[in-house]
Amino acid sequence: MQALVYHGPGHKAWEEVPKPQVIEDGDAVVRVDAVTICGTDLHILKGDVPAVTDGRILGHEAVGTVEAVGPAVRTVKAGDKVLVSCITACGTCRFCREGRYGQCLGGGGWILGHRIDGTQAEYVRVPFADTSVYPVPDGVAAEEVLMLADILPTGYEVGVLNGAVRPGDVVAVVGAGPIGLSAIMGARLFSPGRIIAIDLADSRLEAAERFGADTVVNNSREDPLAAVRDLTGGLGADVAVEAVGVPDAFEAAVALARPGGRIANIGVHGAPATLHLEEQWIRDITITTGLVDTFSTPTLLRLVAGGQLDVGRFITHRFPMEEFLKAYDVFADAAGTGALKVVLTR
Ligand SMILES: NC(=O)c1ccc[n+]([C@@H]2O[C@H](COP(=O)([O-])OP(=O)(O)OC[C@H]3O[C@@H](n4cnc5c(N)ncnc54)[C@H](O)[C@@H]3O)[C@@H](O)[C@H]2O)c1
Ligand SMILES: [Zn+2]
Ligand SMILES: [Zn+2]
Repeated sequence: MQALVYHGPGHKAWEEVPKPQVIEDGDAVVRVDAVTICGTDLHILKGDVPAVTDGRILGHEAVGTVEAVGPAVRTVKAGDKVLVSCITACGTCRFCREGRYGQCLGGGGWILGHRIDGTQAEYVRVPFADTSVYPVPDGVAAEEVLMLADILPTGYEVGVLNGAVRPGDVVAVVGAGPIGLSAIMGARLFSPGRIIAIDLADSRLEAAERFGADTVVNNSREDPLAAVRDLTGGLGADVAVEAVGVPDAFEAAVALARPGGRIANIGVHGAPATLHLEEQWIRDITITTGLVDTFSTPTLLRLVAGGQLDVGRFITHRFPMEEFLKAYDVFADAAGTGALKVVLTR
């Protein structure tokens, strides 16, 4: 089969590799029908994720058709359409029993396209299939379900739920990439008073408006702290979501929260950020961090099937799988191409 293979920092190829087989009793082999690229894949290609080694097939998001299952698999069978989530769960360890699948101790967690071969391929082997894939609901397009493999649960769980967004809240979202936009979409479910999106790129702020931000601030031109304080009687946001992954954005998110406010960090950070405890100790703030667990995936699937979440709007570009390298170029040049999510199909 063909797959997108990582060959060390800066190197990747769409090349012929062996087709995966069922190895463990709980495995499923899934024929990939639709697959996408994540910002995290770009981090890997820069060499930021050293656990990913030469020869690894990338990708942790897919929708496909089950091709084969091991003898222990009970809930899916050959021919079923499934969502392959970015998080795999053994289902039995302490953390899985708490719904904290991202921290799975039994060999799951974020493994696809990281510690084992991933989804950017014609076929993928998914361990612990019973607790790691989700049936695609009838009447929902595969490419829409694909948006639930990573970005939607991440924005919802690590941004909106960790940030405890409540009706009437002012929510400031720093970074309006696919993850920040998912947090905006998820926050809307809770009837916030106002959503303020902050980004350096006008194209991303235009997207934020389409996704439901009430106010947008380009922080290359405008001071976001002054803008948020103007809108909140000088207090700051009830909830500040960090969806970038750089020190400046984290420090901005902390500054934007009101006394007693909540700061939900989503970004993957590669460098230390300063927490100004000499200013913050007195402000009663709560800071959360998190790796997505995907415990919300069944809820989000119901919301998509019920027409309450229009996730199709994330998809800006479509390619056949043979054009994987071109799709990477378009996705990596988001400022120039306006790309949010690219979908590759057979
Ligand atoms: N915690 C998790 O489980 C999890 C899961 C998936 C992704 N992530 C992380 O979430 C982050 C966002 O992902 P994405 O795919 O949306 O990334 P992205 O790169 O597409 O978007 C980031 C946005 O931030 C903007 N930006 C950059 N610097 C900024 C600054 N100083 N102030 C304001 N805006 C700034 C960029 O213009 C861009 O629009 C990444 O760090 C990603 O690795 C975390
Ligand atoms: Zn991802
Ligand atoms: Zn587990």
